[in-house]
Amino acid sequence: MDIHKLIDTASALVANDKGLLAMDESNPTCNKRFAKLGIAETEQQRRAYREMIITTPGLSDSISGAILYDETIRQETLAGESFIRVLGDHGIIPGIKVDAHAKALAGHPGEEITEGLDGLRERLLEYLNMGAKFAKWRAVIAIGDSLPSRGCIEANAHALARYAALCQESGLVPIVEPEVIMDGSHSLERCARVTEEVLRTVFEQLYAQGVALEGMILKPNMVLPGLSCPEQPGLDEVADATANCLLRTVPAAVPGIAFLSGGQSAELASARLNAINIRWKSRSPWALTFSFARAIQQPALDIWRGDDANVKAAQKTLLQRTRCNRAARRGEYNAEMERTSA
Ligand code: G3H
Repeated sequence: MDIHKLIDTASALVANDKGLLAMDESNPTCNKRFAKLGIAETEQQRRAYREMIITTPGLSDSISGAILYDETIRQETLAGESFIRVLGDHGIIPGIKVDAHAKALAGHPGEEITEGLDGLRERLLEYLNMGAKFAKWRAVIAIGDSLPSRGCIEANAHALARYAALCQESGLVPIVEPEVIMDGSHSLERCARVTEEVLRTVFEQLYAQGVALEGMILKPNMVLPGLSCPEQPGLDEVADATANCLLRTVPAAVPGIAFLSGGQSAELASARLNAINIRWKSRSPWALTFSFARAIQQPALDIWRGDDANVKAAQKTLLQRTRCNRAARRGEYNAEMERTSA
């Protein structure tokens, strides 16, 4: 493990107020999003969609790295240039999702464990040789009446730590993503308690597996109430709950925290990231940035709809979202930006 290289990559991913673009939806997830808009669920359309994203002019002004899926990392533009090359030419660091999805956790009804450790060392080597510089693994923690169980939190934290250690051994920066999901009617306080327990356990396991915290990025959920909770707090309350939880649990050696959007609307995700930075940036040891998928892509996908004629308009919207999120990282986002065209 070359720790200096890992630190350089991790630092570059959170430098210059930029953030990450997650475009690593698995084929079934991408197809599900296409189906809602009547887009053909084919390899051809997935390729065209991802080409639209990565060829957006100006994307690298706000995006430091892009997370790809196994199918996408092997694809090319219509002109025959590999996606990895296009990203590299624009100064965007390529990354790869390496988990093999969450499956039902035996003995724990309603809970899931993320699979994918078998053969991971060999797969990481293949991606490294293709040009990937970092990787991502997502664990899913649900909140319910008696969930999450200790067994689920520990199993997922252990898998995340083993994945992260393998990444660093291979020379890839691990993005460690323990996501406490928003489904349910739980309160903000409940989400804060669960997220705190999850992060404490994840960092215990990262320590146990010898992961160098300086060479990784944490990708957590913001602390939010469940989607069907009747009380939805304001921006400052979310910002404070999120920052307090992270300050209690995430060591200062970690260079950056890149939030997932988790199903928040694009505008709300930007506004909340902005509030977090306005209130906590000067007191945080880590960069506080974004690694959004839906909150960057969805408005552009709604415009693209699988039609070449919509590419330019979709790219304009995609660029607008990335700019809003870069501004949010600086604490300079405002609703006016939503009305200003890119
Ligand atoms: O694993 C999930 C993605 O990387 C983040 O997706 O921003 O839509 O939650 P999201």
